[in-house]
Amino acid sequence: MTHGLKMTIDWAGLRAAAADAASRAYAPYSRLRVGAAGLAGDGRVVTGCNVENASYGLTLCAECGLVSALHASAPAQHTAGPPAQPTPARTAGEVPALVAVAVVAGDGQALLPCGRCRQLLFEAGGASLLVDTAEGPVPLTELLPAAFGPADVAARREE
Ligand code: THU
Repeated sequence: MTHGLKMTIDWAGLRAAAADAASRAYAPYSRLRVGAAGLAGDGRVVTGCNVENASYGLTLCAECGLVSALHASAPAQHTAGPPAQPTPARTAGEVPALVAVAVVAGDGQALLPCGRCRQLLFEAGGASLLVDTAEGPVPLTELLPAAFGPADVAARREE
């Protein structure tokens, strides 16, 4: 399947990468291992797995790790060596966006992202981000209609 950017999306490869990430999950409390793999617009494949904590509420979903990896592996903003000036923070939309995401449980089957992670994915990939489901890929807007996002902050903030 191709995306609007005309990239070929290797869904089988994304699902396999997600399953591999799930095998590395740290989920001793729920015993539900989750892995996520995403394709960025520049061709990078980034992954994440869920990481639980004895405090339970501190659990990190697999998609959180994926979004962190998307940013952590993005092209550097300056050449090697310490920058002469402090590096300005990236603004919304500057990091190559996610194009496609597969999330699977430890059994290798698709798992729908939780509500918080749909919001995280929206900021990383927008409404057209393709998310794999048991019935096949769907645009994120189907899973998170009428989403609140960076444009709403820009449009509604008080200067
Ligand atoms: N989990 C994820 O990693 N992603 C989701 O979208 C749903 C839930 C994890 C969190 C927790 O470690 C386990 O699944 C059970 O909720």
